[in-house]
Amino acid sequence: KVLKARDLPSVVQYIESSACENVMLMLGAGVSTSAGIPDFRSPETGLYSNLQRLNLPHPEAVFEINFFRRNPVPFYTLAHELYPGKFRPTITHSFIRLLAEKKLLHTCFTQNIDTLERRAGVPDEKIIEAHGSFATQRCIDCQRPYDDAKMKDHIKRKAIAKCDSCQGFIKPDIVFFGEGLPSAFARAVPNLRKADLLIVIGTSLTVHPFASLTGMVDESCPRVLINMERVGDFGSRTDDVILLGKCDEIVLELCQSLDWEKDLNRLWEL
Ligand code: OAD
Repeated sequence: KVLKARDLPSVVQYIESSACENVMLMLGAGVSTSAGIPDFRSPETGLYSNLQRLNLPHPEAVFEINFFRRNPVPFYTLAHELYPGKFRPTITHSFIRLLAEKKLLHTCFTQNIDTLERRAGVPDEKIIEAHGSFATQRCIDCQRPYDDAKMKDHIKRKAIAKCDSCQGFIKPDIVFFGEGLPSAFARAVPNLRKADLLIVIGTSLTVHPFASLTGMVDESCPRVLINMERVGDFGSRTDDVILLGKCDEIVLELCQSLDWEKDLNRLWEL
């Protein structure tokens, strides 16, 4: 057993010790809800329970490649609402940058496509956008890349962008159901063995392969879950710590105990 107890003070003590050098993060939509971006599966507020107006056969269809081929309108409607640029990083995003500044962050694996990690100033080389992002886009037929400014303009107008050469629909490089994850993800996964702390924040851990990363850290690596509810197999290992509640509040409490609150606020106010 590595931690004294399965609680926040034990995690703080561990982070302060010399044993903690390589922190790995796994993030989901819950880290961005306080920025005003809905998550997917929360009842009432989640995207999937609010998509009736898009006339989908089932909510996930909006992110299914075969559905998009037939009807890209629902995705473009959603993209218009979720397009990065409208939202400001949260306290939790600033905490991630702080971990990087303290030289503790090894890799931040994120499922989020909102690019708020980058906007918070987390170094690019520390971030693995496992489900891609809105940063680039291409034709779904000939794979030809499409211009950033033109894409932005189309999403702004909710107009479907089409390939200049083959007229195929243009899709941001977001990983849809039915598509493979970026090669950078596969390259980064073996690093999980180097983890001496895993912190999982704001995800339901329902989408694979991402969710299975929690099982890839060593048995001796403490795993911390910061989420509204218990998810995955958290609790099954002796050094699992489950901190339930809003992530910004828990992160703030962690930073207060670590005496990092001033640093956190400095980054948050940037
Ligand atoms: P989900 O919506 O499935 O899960 C979000 C989790 O965060 C839930 O457990 C919420 O209770 C929790 N949560 C929400 N707000 C929170 C807060 N302020 N503090 C702490 N926890 C909070 O989102 P993901 O797990 O990210 O894929 O979903 C995984 C993937 O499914 C997404 O990447 C997306 C989706 O289909 C693609 O688009 C390819």
